[in-house]
Amino acid sequence: MTYTTKQWQAMDAAHFLHPFTDHKALAEQGSRIITRAKGVYLWDSENHKILDGMAGLWCASVGHGHPELVEAATKQMSELSFYNAFFKTATPPAIALASRIAELTGQRFRHVFFACSGSEAVDSIIRTMRHYWTLKGEPNRQIIIGRQYGYHGSTIAGSAAGGMEDMHKQAGHLPGFTHITAPYWYGLGGGLTPEDFGLQAAQALEERILELGPENIAGFLAEPLQGAGGVIIPPATYWPEIQRICRKYDILLAADEVICGFGRTGRWFGSDTFRIEADLMSVAKGLTSGYVPLSAMLVGDRVADLLISEGGEYYHGFTYSGHPVSCAVALANLDIIERDGLVEKAATQGEKLRAGLRERLADHPLVGEVRGVGLVGAIELTADKRTRAFFPDDADVGMRCRNHCFQNDFIMRAVRDTMVFAPPFIIDDEQIEEFVARAAHAIDLTYAEIKDAGLL
Ligand SMILES: Cc1ncc(COP(=O)(O)O)c(C=O)c1O
Repeated sequence: MTYTTKQWQAMDAAHFLHPFTDHKALAEQGSRIITRAKGVYLWDSENHKILDGMAGLWCASVGHGHPELVEAATKQMSELSFYNAFFKTATPPAIALASRIAELTGQRFRHVFFACSGSEAVDSIIRTMRHYWTLKGEPNRQIIIGRQYGYHGSTIAGSAAGGMEDMHKQAGHLPGFTHITAPYWYGLGGGLTPEDFGLQAAQALEERILELGPENIAGFLAEPLQGAGGVIIPPATYWPEIQRICRKYDILLAADEVICGFGRTGRWFGSDTFRIEADLMSVAKGLTSGYVPLSAMLVGDRVADLLISEGGEYYHGFTYSGHPVSCAVALANLDIIERDGLVEKAATQGEKLRAGLRERLADHPLVGEVRGVGLVGAIELTADKRTRAFFPDDADVGMRCRNHCFQNDFIMRAVRDTMVFAPPFIIDDEQIEEFVARAAHAIDLTYAEIKDAGLL
């Protein structure tokens, strides 16, 4: 297909409804057409080479265009392109992948249910938690507790579990969901130390459980770190306290590892990094490095034993649950991550990236904080370094910075005034220097622009 950029943009605006997009504004501006990718770089239809600081959308862990994943998909498609797992049947890649994932979790999760997207994995967790309590003879335990700024996908249940108010307004408010505060020390911690604030934020869970009655709560669903909410990394006191509260009230704990799973935080799972002992986990993105859609709900023995022994028929599943091509790609992807030591690399390169950003940006008047763990992180843009003040919403400072990144062939994402990043694990030292230089340049341009606009 040899269209010009303008022709692609016109067709795009005429027919393609994009996810999470103001379509009118985009049509006026025109999409950037991404045509190919290799390693940590993307190219657009004008042949600009773009440094991908978001690994696609938190997923391309092994980098773009890895030949071994292409080969795994081709081989599996030639052998068996599709068969389902409904008819008392299974395919070797799905069986092998379920067993491989169980092994990677140290057999803490011995059962795996496959779906296609992170949202579907989260939906599966929600219904499985509720089903569990019904099987236990406590059918009133229906409420799922999530968090402000939590993101669990965009299906009806996923958006209800998440804490994004704009999504609730459009998707409607489902009963059976409630949200507690986020452990966002930078934004909400005021004068408290991170440790005190972490405890306070965790204790909000206990307060909500008591308010609603433990006999009505199915579980607490949370990301180990809140990715789409702005890479909110909880203080060290947070997760141990959450764990204590869940145990005390016998609440199921589900870790949404869609971003963290398979190395992003420098350990195999975010639950390893933050020492979370969850009953269920959702994984997606890094499972296939985003080459093909695949997600999974991982089920620990507490839930799986009951589901299997007394659950009868499980009325849930998708045509593509355990798709053989996706599972074959995931197996090859996990081979690469293991063989090339990419989890360890995420830890070491992440440290270098943060050190570089801090050295370059710590004194910048627009930068309030650089934080991160493994290869996921955030740069807070602030109106006042001392008070950590945000800009007014309509100043769109994060979006201005994102635009400067994009215009200068570099991708970081904006969440409010927070710039977030999650590059591929294969990013090398030279590319880290390039990342730091491009981030600093975009922040300098943003600073100049907002000063001109009289916002500082
Ligand atoms: C933690 C988390 N859960 C769920 C999802 C939803 O995944 P998907 O977009 O594949 O449905 C996301 C997506 O970014 C996510 O970050």
